[in-house]
Amino acid sequence: MKVALITGGSKGIGFGIAEALLKDGYKVAITSRTIASANQAAADLVAFGDVLAIEANVADFNSQQEAINLIIEKWGQLDVLIANAGVGHFAPVDELSVDLWKETIDTNLTGVFYSIKASVDEIKKSKGHIFTISSLAGTNFFAGGSAYNASKFGLTGFTQSVMLDLRKYGVKVSTIMPGSVASHFNNHQPDGETDAWKIQPEDMGKLIVDLLAMPARTLPSKVEIRPTTPKG
Ligand SMILES: NC(=O)c1ccc[n+]([C@@H]2O[C@H](COP(=O)([O-])OP(=O)(O)OC[C@H]3O[C@@H](n4cnc5c(N)ncnc54)[C@H](OP(=O)(O)O)[C@@H]3O)[C@@H](O)[C@H]2O)c1
Repeated sequence: MKVALITGGSKGIGFGIAEALLKDGYKVAITSRTIASANQAAADLVAFGDVLAIEANVADFNSQQEAINLIIEKWGQLDVLIANAGVGHFAPVDELSVDLWKETIDTNLTGVFYSIKASVDEIKKSKGHIFTISSLAGTNFFAGGSAYNASKFGLTGFTQSVMLDLRKYGVKVSTIMPGSVASHFNNHQPDGETDAWKIQPEDMGKLIVDLLAMPARTLPSKVEIRPTTPKG
């Protein structure tokens, strides 16, 4: 049975991917900055399969390494990394605080590097698959998005480079660039009715399951996904 780690699996996109991978037969570890949130999500997911809740902060390399160590101790392998954890802070550059800039880059960009750095040896052993969750904001810039755009433009470039580094080991690396997804992103409270036009977390889960089912010879390196009928 294959093993997946989803950083930031306590809610939103990560939670949707966790549910889809469990239903597809994976053992799934999810991380959150707090063990309470990770445990709550794991309790909601356990009906679908074998799930492990871990407290880990992607912005702390040692914390990421400990998460990988826990997974290897428990399950002995790691086949899929979904580097999903991310934050969104939006303000014009003259109003953007140094702290929010730092948190955005440390989480969305450096946090993905730490997640891959801590797991790459295990993923090479399993000839596994790494996904990063970038954004359409990783290719389209907008006012008020300086920190987020910088983090996601950086992540898109970083992931493409890592893809070229690791393909020779039989490791696939893909970056997913979603448009609007119904999640808790930027303190949003998802609402079934008003968010119905958005991509849903379970759609992201289906996408990952479908991409993992591609033949070994074929590498989906960069995938854009967007609502069919956007609002506003
Ligand atoms: N929603 C969208 O429209 C959209 C579009 C494109 C891309 N994305 C990207 O999708 C990813 C997931 O976002 P989402 O929309 O699902 O938002 P969300 O509902 O707010 O979920 C974010 C997840 O990331 C975790 N997280 C945040 N900082 C973390 C850290 N330092 N260490 C570990 N976990 C951390 C959160 O866990 P805790 O709060 O429990 O710690 C939570 O599980 C992000 O990278 C985001 O940029 C979102």
